[in-house]
Amino acid sequence: MKTETTIQGLNASLSTARSNRKMIGFVPTMGNLHQGHLNLVKEARKLCDIVVVSIFVNPIQFGPNEDFDNYPRTLDQDCQLLADVGCDIVFAPSVEQMYGSQPRLTTISVSDITQDLCGLQRPGHFDGVTTVVAKLFHIVQPNFAFFGQKDYQQLAVIRQMVEDLNFPIEVIGVPIARAESGLALSSRNGYLTEAELETAPAIYQSLTEAADQLKSGVSLDAALAHIRERLTTAGFVIDYVEARSPSLKKVTDFDQDVVLFVAAKLGKTRLIDNLTVVYSSNGS
Ligand code: PAF
Repeated sequence: MKTETTIQGLNASLSTARSNRKMIGFVPTMGNLHQGHLNLVKEARKLCDIVVVSIFVNPIQFGPNEDFDNYPRTLDQDCQLLADVGCDIVFAPSVEQMYGSQPRLTTISVSDITQDLCGLQRPGHFDGVTTVVAKLFHIVQPNFAFFGQKDYQQLAVIRQMVEDLNFPIEVIGVPIARAESGLALSSRNGYLTEAELETAPAIYQSLTEAADQLKSGVSLDAALAHIRERLTTAGFVIDYVEARSPSLKKVTDFDQDVVLFVAAKLGKTRLIDNLTVVYSSNGS
């Protein structure tokens, strides 16, 4: 496995693959890798000849009071994990390599679907994500790109950008990786205290309970109220608990597939999760 820190180095490493028209798979990450990221790499490994993983903590997707400075940076450990799952190239650029020293005058911004859910509490976040992902797509020029479904809204926003801007890239969403407790894996779980780690699985539990309620005929409003009540009692401060259609449209009833979304703070840590509930007209 090679590690490249410059765009020039990455181009040199990919030149033979590109001229031989090899399928390039790309997994963008901010590092501090866990099983969820490794699942993305394994999926890429199945479909592609060459797998590139980027590790870049992107400053422009963090708000002024967010955790950019404290975000865990564990490059050596990440490279070891990536070598073990068959990654070919790690691209780990500096901020200067990605953004240069001149002011950046261009932002890639997807409208509408970025204004809801996480977009409400994190203004500018998705512009930071789409701008860096567009840059990375131009730099790596992959055939396939892999994103986790835990960041459901991010995945939808990136799909929209790829469609709107004609990136010749197939975007693949990979299911959420969970701990045995049901807690969705996230680099931010590392911020949780031992006591909070015990409490955190309540998010997934409340989502599955709400899904069961919906399937047994409870209204969508009541199922969402159940999640709010359950999490507030457990000590979370709720950011949002919402239901949307799979394409992120507002829904009021469970008369189609719905995605239940939670964002909530436990102590200082903001956690997100989601669960798709499949609608069946016979209620099963
Ligand atoms: O999901 C992430 O880790 C980041 O938002 C991404 C897609 C790597 C862009 O910085």
